[in-house]
Amino acid sequence: MKVLLTGASGFVGSHVLDRLLDRNIPVAVLLRKSSRRDLINARLGSFEICIGGIDEATSLDSALDGVTHIIHCAGATKALDRNEFFGVNQGGTRHVVEAMNRRGGQIQRLVHISSLAAAGPATVDHPRTERDAPAPVSDYGRSKLAAEQVVRERCGGDWTIIRPPAVYGPRDGEFLRLFKAVRSHVRPYFGGGRQQLSLVYVEDLADIIVTALTHPQARRETFFVGAPEMVTAGELATAVASISQNWSVPLPLPNAVLWLACQWSGLVSRITQRADVLNAQKYAELSAAGWVCDVRKLSDQLGQGCPTGLQAGLEKTLAWYRHHGWLRI
Ligand SMILES: NC(=O)c1ccc[n+]([C@@H]2O[C@H](COP(=O)([O-])OP(=O)(O)OC[C@H]3O[C@@H](n4cnc5c(N)ncnc54)[C@H](OP(=O)(O)O)[C@@H]3O)[C@@H](O)[C@H]2O)c1
Repeated sequence: MKVLLTGASGFVGSHVLDRLLDRNIPVAVLLRKSSRRDLINARLGSFEICIGGIDEATSLDSALDGVTHIIHCAGATKALDRNEFFGVNQGGTRHVVEAMNRRGGQIQRLVHISSLAAAGPATVDHPRTERDAPAPVSDYGRSKLAAEQVVRERCGGDWTIIRPPAVYGPRDGEFLRLFKAVRSHVRPYFGGGRQQLSLVYVEDLADIIVTALTHPQARRETFFVGAPEMVTAGELATAVASISQNWSVPLPLPNAVLWLACQWSGLVSRITQRADVLNAQKYAELSAAGWVCDVRKLSDQLGQGCPTGLQAGLEKTLAWYRHHGWLRI
């Protein structure tokens, strides 16, 4: 067995790389010359590096030498516009699938990392299930759904689609913002903090991704991968404050402020040509009533779930931020 991993330089991909190496599975990673290396530096020398991108057929073709399985984790979570989201998420996935198909039966399975955003928002009354018709609300979500369609319709071999909700854990720069706010003694939330969330601790997600490579019940299946526990945005902020042992005051912000922040950030991104997670598109996601998924198919079919509870996961995350100097004590 040998795995080609895309997106290894990123938050989720770096944990998937760790899990593969911990299980002594030979790995090749596809990195761009510009890819950050700080998250994978500790493991350098224990995996093969192929220089190239998911937009380059030739580099993908040579990266597949000797490969039996692919984990496609590369993706754009922020972009300047719709074309960039679709170019990376749909177009990049198409290149990966076409390269796989060119290898005939050599590649036994493609595990594709999608997102709850591809399925769309949902609340605890009706959490999203894999059977529901997708209804994404942003260009990001629509581009991830388009990538799923490429996998289902064009992949000549076996595949598994993994749809995580919001992912948190060591090495994540997005949840870090909330930890930093709490360190500054505020717990900001929008919409009364009532948005309902499913979450997944990144090491649990990485475990499932590696399991999906070979599990017979994962063949040509789609799974939401998250912890069974659901929280509101307000509860999440309170939990972060509690484990940080910082005094903090709630900072409720009306949705109009969120909308303005998204518009402003989008404008700054266009001027500086640097994409940010906050943009006009993101407003539809952030103002949704909930992003909740039903994870019973995962445990029923694969016999594996996401065991890390919110408290334990946040504690490990905080410890990592402090140890690595991402958050001052
Ligand atoms: N984080 C979450 O909460 C979350 C939730 C649901 C789904 N996901 C999905 O999980 C995957 C990983 O997300 P992440 O949070 O780890 O994001 P991330 O930290 O931004 O990492 C993204 C990875 O994709 C690579 N990439 C981006 N554009 C590329 C391109 N044009 N060609 C080749 N590689 C490219 C990046 O490589 P470079 O270093 O070269 O830029 C990086 O390795 C994505 O598919 C995302 O949609 C994430």
